[in-house]
Amino acid sequence: MEFFPIHNGLITKKEGILMETQQHFRPTKAIVDLQAIQQNIKNLKALLQPSVQVIAVVKANAYGHGDIAVAKAALEAGATMLAVATPDEALHIRAHFEEPDILILGASPVSFASYAAQQRITLTVFSSDWVQQAATMVAGEENPLQLHIKVDSGMGRIGIRTESELLELYHTIHSTDNVELDGIFTHFATADEEDTAYFDSQVALFEKLIAILPDKPRLVHASNTATALVKDNRLQYDAVRYGISMYGLAPSSYVEGILPFPLKPAFSLESELVHVKQLKAGDSVGYGATFIAQTDMWIGTIPVGYADGVIRKLAGQEVLIDGQRMPIVGRICMDQCMVALPKAYAIGKEVTLIGRQGQEEISIDEWATKLETINYEVPCIITARVPRIYI
Ligand SMILES: Cc1ncc(COP(=O)(O)O)c(C=O)c1O
Repeated sequence: MEFFPIHNGLITKKEGILMETQQHFRPTKAIVDLQAIQQNIKNLKALLQPSVQVIAVVKANAYGHGDIAVAKAALEAGATMLAVATPDEALHIRAHFEEPDILILGASPVSFASYAAQQRITLTVFSSDWVQQAATMVAGEENPLQLHIKVDSGMGRIGIRTESELLELYHTIHSTDNVELDGIFTHFATADEEDTAYFDSQVALFEKLIAILPDKPRLVHASNTATALVKDNRLQYDAVRYGISMYGLAPSSYVEGILPFPLKPAFSLESELVHVKQLKAGDSVGYGATFIAQTDMWIGTIPVGYADGVIRKLAGQEVLIDGQRMPIVGRICMDQCMVALPKAYAIGKEVTLIGRQGQEEISIDEWATKLETINYEVPCIITARVPRIYI
């Protein structure tokens, strides 16, 4: 068989189509458990009224998990629409899936409008000028351009804010050939917090605005994970947008504490020891020689570094070897890092950077705490050099 190298492994040609082989020559890999994703979706779906659709949020390469594999798993588990952030993400998904509706949640340039109509990609709009400019691009297209109006009920990001803006946009869409209003939506800024005052004010504005629409489009949607899991059921409207919960993570510690069912994390990061050596007391490790052995000790080298997303701020973070926690010592290099071992392990010994070994687990949330960020960011920063392996 003929193989072509890519940056993180090999691809081959099968019946003229380039296919990933899932063959990689470096032991560092992200393992993505698609069954966990499907189980999470099934549990999430069980919370919804039967008529409510699931929009699987697979933007940012499915939060770093791999957009195509996750989209396939999500559709099989009952999602009916896929949501992404950018035109390129939408085209990538459409190249693999002919049927499902795809919504771009972010702003798209007018120059993308004709591609969107041809590829049946639904766009988010919040400006009448944009619609008028796009109209000239889609005039001759076979399929009308599908649009969802974005309401900025308090995120302060994109979206219309007032009744007059909404009515102007609504009438522009309705009086323009070859564009159709398919939906209207908003996004909450504080759905994952216990205090509901700001959340309630966003709900009130959204409800006031949708109430003035002369007729309701097919899909009204507002819920992200936190809203759907812990807020009012009536906010399910016609569809919910599930992101972080699909991947088995809670949107905040508040939501984690009151989850209606346990979420199953889908992402692990694995590697193995490629070198094991004994240091003498006084020997140092890594750039800057910042770690100095206090006694004779064993050091293992793992072929993963900041170019993989194991960024330098993770120095000191523990990894799992033999079901036990061991710290990364010294500065993390671009492609490698070193770990203090209690004894001489064999080359090839499995190292878990994120995930479970026996009774011990290093969670994405543990990394997020170490990195002073949120769990959403962690799988996103694991770079494309790390192959995603699906189980
Ligand atoms: C507009 C919009 N909807 C839904 C989501 C999914 O949110 P979550 O991952 O919290 O479920 C996001 C994520 O950022 C978003 O930006």
